[in-house]
Amino acid sequence: MDRRKLIAGNWKMNGSRDANTSLVHEIMLDARKYPKVDVLICPPLVYLDSVGRQIEGSPVQLGAQNLADQQKAGAFTGEVLGSMLRDIGCSAVIVGHSERRSLYGESDAVVARKFQCAQNSGLIPVLCIGETLQERESGATEAVVARQLDAVLVSSGAAVFKNAVIAYEPVWAIGTGRTATPEQAQAVHQFIRGRLAVQDAKIAKSTRILYGGSMKADNAGELLACPDIDGGLIGGASLKANEFLAICAAAQAQSE
Ligand code: PGA
Repeated sequence: MDRRKLIAGNWKMNGSRDANTSLVHEIMLDARKYPKVDVLICPPLVYLDSVGRQIEGSPVQLGAQNLADQQKAGAFTGEVLGSMLRDIGCSAVIVGHSERRSLYGESDAVVARKFQCAQNSGLIPVLCIGETLQERESGATEAVVARQLDAVLVSSGAAVFKNAVIAYEPVWAIGTGRTATPEQAQAVHQFIRGRLAVQDAKIAKSTRILYGGSMKADNAGELLACPDIDGGLIGGASLKANEFLAICAAAQAQSE
């Protein structure tokens, strides 16, 4: 089963015009060195348009970090529709990142709606799921990721994963420097794929499941070598061109 590796940079709330211009410039210098890898960058909303112009014509794709859980334009101050993101050149959008869930109160139901809105606009949702440290230590990891996945599976069915990506991001590994071991990550990725397979074996085989949580140049190779890890959602390390490109190179090496 050919699942092209995907390396996605989640810039979170970082950047400035100047910093973005040089970061993107450096990424673009190397972007054609990874023909077997899909590369996606997700800058903050206000910079999507300018970064989009800078990467135009390159293999690097543009993604957003969030969207409204609304299908139509209207009186929703501060919100942004999926179709607007499409309009300025986004091909994907992160949905249900743990920071959105924990800091901005996004419930499983809201995340499921955003997932649907993204797809209805022609965007690829990157659905983030993952357990907290407390949940892991109490043995609830599988129950938590199952619940978060089922919120989409039950409302939209398995077929929607034909045009979606899942990112397993253990909350305790995000921004902490504490990465899941390849064994820990692979076990959860396998569980997620198995849960999809119960609904639709073919979809399960073709769905890309990224790992996220302190993935860096020096641990990307061993994580990306795991059979069910199809790429990475990279936070901190996506802000440094050399780190991000080294992760792309590790993904390319695994794809040869
Ligand atoms: P990190 O973030 O790589 O800085 O841990 C990953 C993420 O939150 O997507």
